[in-house]
Amino acid sequence: MSVFDASIQVFLAPVVPFLKDDSVTEIMINGPTNIFIERKGFVEKVDVKFDDEGALIAAVRNISQFVGRPIDEERPFLDARLPDGSRIHAVVPPVAKNGTTVTIRKFSKTKLDMKDLIAKGAINIDAARFIDVCLYLKKNIIVSGGTGSGKTTILNILASRCQPNQRILVLEDSAELKIHNNHVVYFEARPADESGKGLVTLRDLVKSSLRLRPDRVIVGEVRSGEAMDLISSMNTGHSGSMGTVHSNNPKECLTRLETLAMMTESDVPIQAVRSQVASAINIILQLSRMQDGSRKVTHISEGIGMDLQGNYQVQDIYLFEQTGRDKDGKVLGSLNPTGTIPSFMKEIEVNQLPFPKELFFKKGPNSNPPSPTPSKPENQAA
Ligand SMILES: Nc1ncnc2c1ncn2[C@@H]1O[C@H](COP(=O)(O)OP(=O)(O)O)[C@@H](O)[C@H]1O
Ligand SMILES: [Mg+2]
Repeated sequence: MSVFDASIQVFLAPVVPFLKDDSVTEIMINGPTNIFIERKGFVEKVDVKFDDEGALIAAVRNISQFVGRPIDEERPFLDARLPDGSRIHAVVPPVAKNGTTVTIRKFSKTKLDMKDLIAKGAINIDAARFIDVCLYLKKNIIVSGGTGSGKTTILNILASRCQPNQRILVLEDSAELKIHNNHVVYFEARPADESGKGLVTLRDLVKSSLRLRPDRVIVGEVRSGEAMDLISSMNTGHSGSMGTVHSNNPKECLTRLETLAMMTESDVPIQAVRSQVASAINIILQLSRMQDGSRKVTHISEGIGMDLQGNYQVQDIYLFEQTGRDKDGKVLGSLNPTGTIPSFMKEIEVNQLPFPKELFFKKGPNSNPPSPTPSKPENQAA
């Protein structure tokens, strides 16, 4: 055990059992006595507490010393990683009104793969195969969703399913992805040190990555000006790039990317940014955390440019349709093709990819035309 690890055991003692419990995904500390955890998608209050505000702030100061980033009244925020890879964010009073406020996003040791997502009902086999088609054709894909909806998990899976002869450059603010592929190179941004030196932003990493002969550029979480660089790289021949964006539906995802791209100091007019976003993003994979705590792919949508008024045009290829809840509250429904054929159907055909047009039509009694290919049982996944 490292010294850092040992000190965590002491300073964070009240929540250590939750750090060790793999079924807990998040720990939320709102002052010394008001502590919540998330388990299986549900948030519950737990009966543990720190002795007082002093004990909690000591824990945060201790972590800040280990990672070499100060936290005090003047600099009230701390972003850090615990020795087990979990991400911690802390805010101290007076900004934090409840007392020192901390969230710990657990690092999940079990990495899900596409088969797991199918087994959990997060996606189905046809939709998963369609995503493989998009990957093969090097479409630019954005995974969109709220916090904890499974974006990083699915991005990891997508990148692991790319052709093994491709060079994948991974750029993150805080290293989370662990891609199973042949040729993966990782980079992590760095905050400035105490004297304000040494800052390396995601923007810097995106710029540098383009000179490192990428076949694909993957940005873990697009949340600032790097959106601009990613979008222009997608438009200048680096297709097959991917990233995640925090947004609630596919159209909002494009608007969000536009807003983030506008955060750069450049004086590119908004119309130009908008048309760059519209042409860069081919596929949006929308995820949601449902009322029952499960995570699901709710949309697989295609960005098809802009209309004459300059609005983004998005067409849904797959949509999750909820049919009800079972007696335990579990969400019932399925991810169905909408009957819309992607604009790149021709590419699918000329590349002889095993994804016939019929699969884009809805199955079931009201469907037209019916699919001639019966879907395989889910356990025979990709
Ligand atoms: N389809 C899923 N079913 C169940 N758990 C999932 C699923 N996708 C992700 N998770 C779990 O949910 C947590 C949050 O996932 P993550 O990918 O980090 O979300 P995000 O990047 O959207 O914040 C992780 O513990 C992850 O293992
Ligand atoms: Mg994430």
